[in-house]
Amino acid sequence: MSARREDFPLLVNNPGLHYLDSAATSQKPRAVLDAMRDYYERDNANPHRGAYDLSARATERYHDARVRIAKFIGLQDSDCLVFTRGTTEALNLVATAWGGANVQPGDEIVVTGLEHHANFVPWQQLARAKGASLRICPVTTDGRIDLEQLKGMLGERTRVVAFSHVSNALGTINPVTEIARAAHAVGALAICDGAQGTPHLPVSFDALGLDAYAFSGHKMCGPMGIGGLAATRALLESMPPYQFGGDMIEIVGDERSTWNALPHKFEAGTPNVADAIGLAAACEYLDGIGMAQVRTHELALLGRAQDALLAIDGVTVYGPGVNDRSGVLSFTLEGVHPHDLATILDQQGVCIRAGHHCAQPLMRRLAVPATARASFYVYSTEEDVAALAAGVARAKEIFSNF
Ligand code: ALA
Repeated sequence: MSARREDFPLLVNNPGLHYLDSAATSQKPRAVLDAMRDYYERDNANPHRGAYDLSARATERYHDARVRIAKFIGLQDSDCLVFTRGTTEALNLVATAWGGANVQPGDEIVVTGLEHHANFVPWQQLARAKGASLRICPVTTDGRIDLEQLKGMLGERTRVVAFSHVSNALGTINPVTEIARAAHAVGALAICDGAQGTPHLPVSFDALGLDAYAFSGHKMCGPMGIGGLAATRALLESMPPYQFGGDMIEIVGDERSTWNALPHKFEAGTPNVADAIGLAAACEYLDGIGMAQVRTHELALLGRAQDALLAIDGVTVYGPGVNDRSGVLSFTLEGVHPHDLATILDQQGVCIRAGHHCAQPLMRRLAVPATARASFYVYSTEEDVAALAAGVARAKEIFSNF
């Protein structure tokens, strides 16, 4: 077992398991589980509310977690990190709060054909509600955003360009800064879905030139149920609240209310303190490895896995070359439905995702109903790659007998 695998209790407890579905959710290192348990065993109370020391400690730990996570994503002003349940909620927050107040009939919202439904449907619904039009940037045959076409779609009616840092379905790494610049050149907002970016690449929000960046803890060794929206102070201050309730208010009158300072204005109700602490521990863990090393490790496994699968007759791999992808290998095997392939792999202890990967618009553009997707992370090993290749070869053998 690799040293890294030993950090992950689930992998230790399942020795024959080859977990290759980290793009769906990552496994959790012991350090994250310990941090959450420690919070509940020592410091749990409702933060920002109690006039007693225990509540002050919970408040401090929640605040420290925010500062730690902001540092990990290169956001200096940690008040501009709003905790959410994950990427989906963060993107819905912007589409609802900013879009509801700013998008007018006749405006244009630009998304790309590469998007996960979480960065597609909120904008589609906003456009429908406001009488705006949704413009979908084409994707090249090798699964990239067609930048020239994107730039040609932008104009004075464009209010927002929403795009992903990394495609969840193909692993394509997109040129974030270039797209953000193009959006800003026409006065539009640049909103980025970073769900598959933060776990796999070094990210510096302050350097990317975006208005907002959404991410999920559970894909980056943290717990499920926590994520965030990093945004510029200008955007967050200009947006009305998303939800109303405790903690997000300043003064509540009978007729009107005023709002708390950032980030609390967007965090109504009792916050998810333990998961924020878990996510901060995940950032600490990943920084301990180094994000450059995370990338190097994934790239090496991805290259080996792709070579091994392409050696099997009938395998097609989707997306750009490995150097332009995160640790995602999206593929089909001729004559075998991806769901059947996933079932056969499962019988050999190999976990992959099969289907449309919450990216139906992309599947339509690639003209495939579904793909099989193997995805790698810090704990993935060469044994996992070998098991994947053996499983795909076995599936081919089984189906060649029909
Ligand atoms: N967004 C997750 C995936 O790509 C669930 O599998």
